[in-house]
Amino acid sequence: MFDNIKKRFPVFEKKPELVFFDTAASALKVDSMINAITECYAYEYANIHRGIYDLSAKLTKRYEESRSNVSKFINSPSSNNIIFTKSATEGINLVSSCLSEDYFKDGDEVLVTSLEHHANLVPWHLVSKKIKIISTDITSKGELDYSDLLEKINSKTKLLAITHMSNVTGSITSFEEIKIKANKFNIPILIDGCQYVPHKKINIKHLDPDFYVFSAHKLYGPSGLGILYMKDKWIDKLGPYQGGGSMIKNVEIDSSTYLDGFQKFEAGTPPIAEVIGLSASLDFINEVGIDKIYEYENNLTQYAYDQIKRDNDIIVYGDFKNQTSIISFNLNGVHFNDLAMLLDKKNIAIRTGHHCAQPFMKCFNISGNARMSVGIYNTIDEIDYFIKSLNDVKIILKS
Ligand code: ALA
Repeated sequence: MFDNIKKRFPVFEKKPELVFFDTAASALKVDSMINAITECYAYEYANIHRGIYDLSAKLTKRYEESRSNVSKFINSPSSNNIIFTKSATEGINLVSSCLSEDYFKDGDEVLVTSLEHHANLVPWHLVSKKIKIISTDITSKGELDYSDLLEKINSKTKLLAITHMSNVTGSITSFEEIKIKANKFNIPILIDGCQYVPHKKINIKHLDPDFYVFSAHKLYGPSGLGILYMKDKWIDKLGPYQGGGSMIKNVEIDSSTYLDGFQKFEAGTPPIAEVIGLSASLDFINEVGIDKIYEYENNLTQYAYDQIKRDNDIIVYGDFKNQTSIISFNLNGVHFNDLAMLLDKKNIAIRTGHHCAQPFMKCFNISGNARMSVGIYNTIDEIDYFIKSLNDVKIILKS
């Protein structure tokens, strides 16, 4: 099945030589998603939730069916818990802004980790109440220090904001013990699932977070669309976030009342075609099977990791014990951008820099590193080519 999957990604028709190892930044786009968006704009388009005419009613139905497809994909208790935003980043900003308004008090603590993406740090810096942001240490290998995290949970902690899978190391957070301690103090949990959801089965009912965000563009879907799962009790308590059309019950010149449920958080004309596109990309992932995707990508990454680790000149961040699809590394004495530029000449695309995770880099006293990340379209041959190219580039850069 994976042998033919490249055919589903039109970019490879134009660029058959492309070896794309930057899926963690954004995934390449699958044909059925592109077609769904094209057809939506070409033949089905009208604004939704507003028209009683046929075109609008039909697209409204498709849009809401897509919400339910997203809900099923993550095994959410209901599609009413799914809020569409413009990005996962906006989802976290929505939560921070609403908690700032209706929940946080001066002196409260938000517990994060040094593995977080800036999108799960900066929104907490913007909270208007005087909250303290406490960070959890990481080990010398770049893994989350669970005992430090558990120790730092106390009665002042009012939120845990933690990644499900690091965008730097690919390591997956285990929430079992964290949840037990958080429940003891009745602390809500926000999970950043951007890197996790494209690679491993997510079961919201089982994980039971208060908030869970992820983005469509990492799921072979469109950019400009994020998904925020929010538990019922928070949907009732919080918001609105932004004001405008679609979220009101009644408007006077100087006051307004708002709709209940997810609609309270979706002001304005939503990203209609993007939501339809996301649904098509989820259908594609379901056809392939997320468990098969995990197994396939994990084998690829493990194969690459085993070879990279053999090279004493390479420093790898993360221990690959509970890690998938991402390998982050530096070549001793070589700037990561020089490495990436020479790999690009060999048609290999990787990401370099701080990966929007400067606190992680600071733990290692580095300004950044090189990151290769795999997706559904990568192959063992590409890994072999990558390892060979890495050696070739190393010879050039170190000679
Ligand atoms: N969050 C994306 C990355 O890790 C952009 O590259």
